[in-house]
Formats: sequence, C-alpha cells, structure tokens
Amino acid sequence: MPSDMFKTLLRHIGQYRTAALLTPAFIMLEVVMEVLIPYVTGWLIDRGINAGNLVGVYRYGGLMLALAVVSLAMGILAGRFVARASTGFAANLRKAMYRNIQRFAFSDIDKYSTGGLVTRLTTDVNNLQNAFQMILRTSIRAPFTLLSSIVMCFVISRHMSVVFITATVVLAVILTFIIRRVSATMAQVFQQYDRVNAVVQENVSAIRVVKAFVREEHENSKFDLAATTLYRLYVKAESLMAVNHPVMNLVVYGCIIAISWFGARLVVGGQLTTGQLTSLFTYVMSILMSLMMLSMIFVQVTMSVASGKRVAEVLNEVPDIVNPSPADTEIPDGRIDFNHVSFAYKGGSGEYALHDIDLHLSAGETLGVIGGTGSGKTSLITLVSRLYDVTLGSVAVGGKDVRTLDLTALRDAVAVVLQKNVLFSGTVLDNLRWGNPAATLDECRAACRIAQADDFVMQMPQGYDTRIEQGGANVSGGQRQRLCIARALLKHPQVLVLDDSTSACDNATDAAIRQALRQHLPAMTRIIVAQRISSLRDCDRILVLDGGRISGCDTHDNLLRTNKIYQEICAIQEEDGGDFDAPRGRKEDKP
Ligand SMILES: Nc1ncnc2c1ncn2[C@@H]1O[C@H](COP(=O)(O)OP(=O)(O)O)[C@@H](O)[C@H]1O
Ligand SMILES: [Mg+2]
Repeated sequence: MPSDMFKTLLRHIGQYRTAALLTPAFIMLEVVMEVLIPYVTGWLIDRGINAGNLVGVYRYGGLMLALAVVSLAMGILAGRFVARASTGFAANLRKAMYRNIQRFAFSDIDKYSTGGLVTRLTTDVNNLQNAFQMILRTSIRAPFTLLSSIVMCFVISRHMSVVFITATVVLAVILTFIIRRVSATMAQVFQQYDRVNAVVQENVSAIRVVKAFVREEHENSKFDLAATTLYRLYVKAESLMAVNHPVMNLVVYGCIIAISWFGARLVVGGQLTTGQLTSLFTYVMSILMSLMMLSMIFVQVTMSVASGKRVAEVLNEVPDIVNPSPADTEIPDGRIDFNHVSFAYKGGSGEYALHDIDLHLSAGETLGVIGGTGSGKTSLITLVSRLYDVTLGSVAVGGKDVRTLDLTALRDAVAVVLQKNVLFSGTVLDNLRWGNPAATLDECRAACRIAQADDFVMQMPQGYDTRIEQGGANVSGGQRQRLCIARALLKHPQVLVLDDSTSACDNATDAAIRQALRQHLPAMTRIIVAQRISSLRDCDRILVLDGGRISGCDTHDNLLRTNKIYQEICAIQEEDGGDFDAPRGRKEDKP
C-alpha cells in the first residue's frame, strides 16, 4: 500500500525533521519577497518615474533592493537546509536498509538477490533523495507563488482576471496531458534500468568467467540491447517533455498579446496605470512558471514511487530467521540430530532438496558426506547452524532443537566453512579475527598451523600483516580455503563443518589438515563434505546422499561392500589414478 510506503519512508527523516520543516518556511519568506517586488516596481514607475518624483524613485528603488537582499538571504538559508534534509534522509535510509540486510537470513537474500539489494541501496535511494529535495523546494514554492500571483493580479485589476485565468486553465490542461504520457514512459524507463543493472551486475561480477569463455562479444550485444532500449525510452520521454517548452511559449506570448490588447485600452481609459501593466506582465509569467514547476514535481514523484516501494520493501522485510525468545544459550556438547528432516527452498522449484533425513551424530564423531552435485550436501549442512530452517522434522545440536537456541551461541558452537567462502579486504590477521576478535597472534598462528596456512602466510611479504584484497583476489583458491578453515577454528567450535573446503588443496595438504584436526581437536564433532574418497576414507562414518535422500551411512569398508553408488564413485576415482595435482615427493610438515 502506498500510504504504508510513505509512512515507512518518512519515519527515516529522523533527526533531519527540523531542517526539512525549515526549508519550506524560508522558501515561503523568499516567495513573499519575490511577489512584493513587482508590486513595488509598479509604484516606482507610477509614483516615481511617471510622476517625475526623484525622491520617490530612490525610495521605491531602495525598497526593491532591500526586498531583493532579504529574498536572497532566505534563498541561501533554504538551500542549506534542503541539502541537509535530503542528503540526511538518504543517509538514514541507507543505514536502516543496511542494518536490516545484516539481519537477513539466507532465504531473504535468495529472495532479493545480491544485485537487487545493491540497486536498492544506490539508485533507488538516489531517486528518493532527488524527489525529496524537489518536494521540499517546490511543493510549497509553486502553489504559493501561483496563489499569491493570482491574488496580486486581482488586486491590480479585476478586469484583467479573465485573461490570466483562461491562460492558467489552458496551460494546466495541456500540461496534464503531457505529464500523463511522460509518467507512463518513465515507469517503463525504470523497469528497463533494473534490467540494465541486472546485466551489469551479473556480468561484471563474473568478468573473469566471461573472459575465460571468450563471451565478451555475446555479453556486449546483450548489454547493447538493454542500453539501447533504455535510450529509446528516454528519448521518448524527453521528446514529450520538450513539447512543454513551445507550448509554454505559445501560452506566454498569447497572454502578453491579450494583456497588451486589453491593458492598452484600460490604460487609455484611465482604469490602469502603466506601472500596474508592467507588474501584471511579471505576475502572469510567475503564474505560468509555477504551473510548469508543479508539473515537474508530478513527474519526479511518479518516477520515485517505484523506488520508494523497493526501498520500503527492504526496510519492512521481517527476516525469516530471528533469535527465539527466550533463547537458550547453553549448548552442552557437539551432538547433532537430524530428526526426519525434509527441506525445500522457499524461492526454489518447490521440490524438496532433502527428504526424510534421519541421522544422529555423537559428540566428537567425524562424518564424511559425499554425493553428486545437487544431491543436497550443502543444503544439509546449512541446516546445522540454522542458516535455513527445516521444512519438516527438526535439527538438534547438543540435544536441543536449533530453533530454541540463541543464534549467536549456536553459530559460535557450529563453525561452518561455506563452499562459496570469501575473505574480506584487510590484513590476514584481520580476516582471522573474524572468528574471534580477541585472538592473539599466537592463537591465530596455532589455528593456521592446523589449517596448514602458517607456512605460506609466513612467506608472504608482510606475514600476518599482509593485506588481502577484496574477495581474497591475491591468494590462490587453496590458500583462501585454508585461511577460511583457520578463521573457523578460532571460534573454538564444538562442531566444525567443512563444505568441500579443501577442494582446491592438493592431496598431501588435504591429508595434513585432517590429520592435524584429529590430533589437536579430537573432541570436536566434524562434518566434512568432499568429492574425493581419499578425503573421507578415515571418517567414522560416511553419508552417501543421492537426490536429497540417504543412500547409505556407514564406514568406508562397509559402504564399499554394500553401497552401489559408493562403489561407483570409488571405481571412477581409482581409474583416474588418484591425485593429479599433488607435487611429487612433497611432504607437508605436520604440526
Ligand atoms: N538458494 C537456493 N535456492 C533454491 N534452490 C536451491 C538453492 N541452493 C540449492 N538449491 C537446489 O537444491 C538442490 C540441492 O543443492 P545443494 O544442496 O547445493 O547440492 P550439493 O551441495 O550437493 O551440490 C539442488 O537441486 C539445487 O538446485
Ligand atoms: Mg554444495
């Protein structure tokens, strides 16, 4: 509902309310001065110049100058306050959206997409800022100028009122017609903007892939199409707007001719002075200008309603997963229970990604998970730290349903290294301390030694103070994975979940990480998702997933005897002759 939208948005004017209210107040004073000046001009002509009264010329001239100076001062003040109010409003909106996005669950992010959120935080907020500024500046000025100018015209000459009322009506009708068409086109323009943004976001964020597949030409033509459509729509809207100008001129000159015609006869008949006639010309111009201004407000507001909706949507989004109240912060151990869990993604195909998973891990157990892509491995592990909520059944950690546990306590107890892991810009140490802000250098190094990251970090130019570029662009995939594991270990979790987290490491490093985990953190429950049998062979149990269902869950040896899928995976990996990327004869030094 639009009224809800306005309420949501207006709430965020916040501390800039005073500035927002002062702007129209100063503008009103400015307009009063502007309206008085032509009237004084009339006096200057009639009582000063035409009467040959030099003192009168000085007096009225001085008065005009004073009015102009006051008007200027008011204008400057209004400008300052409007800038403060509109940019402050935008800043408040961005902060509030950002804060809410931080509370989003994974499912909420699926709903909006990362690109969509970026557009809302940037382009849409900009539109609102411009609209707000325009409204503050002109929504008072235009009607106020219009009304006061009309009043002044009446005061000067009742007889002439027919002329400017006719002109006002004619212009209003024509403007309404043009503006309607422009608004419709503008709505299309904004939809097209979304499309252009979508192409840009997908493309630029995946520019390396585009280059690797030599798809630049294809991507260029895709973008050309989107950009050209946008251009056509804009030209259409702008050409409509351009009609405003000649129409305006026509009406203005029509008025001048009509006023001159009637005015001349009234002046000759002694019912109107030349000074009054001059003032009338000015007022009629003001009337027409303020009508133009009103029409512009209308366009701007129409343009920003769509943005307003998109911004309000993010502000009002209630995250799918919120902290329970009362929240249980006690997690006694690293036991994990999947009690007949089924799970479907909300925005997905509607099919279950996981079917009736019933699985129970004791504290300190190591579970391997294997299965084809799309078999539900990632979905399974995201349920443990409640990144998504189950659809049916329940997941329990330490014997307690995760939906009753405090989110921070749960996520501190269950450290997940996601398949799509990232590092942030900052030093190596900064990144590691995401896991535990209070960690000392020694603790960080200990975690890195387990994750087999200490050696290469020490070889970097500034060791642990080396800067990581945005997204971890200056470390290799395998190095990034190892830093992410170390970051997770610094939480001292009761459960560690690795989702294909050593896929880019060679076999020797992979084995060294598993060996170090077993040796140094034997009490920690581990769930290890991997593609290589060699990574899972020594797990207590291995879960074989197939199409979201449990195909088998047993030791390596038993699965090899009983599970068909597992046998096939083994056979294929044996044929390949194991590890092709391991450097020959290299042994990682173990901590
Ligand atoms: N965010 C998501 N939204 C909708 N569907 C998803 C999402 N993530 C995964 N899926 C679907 O869920 C199924 C299981 O995916 P996933 O758990 O990622 O498999 P795996 O990790 O084994 O490759 C797939 O069919 C996939 O298309
Ligand atoms: Mg996966």
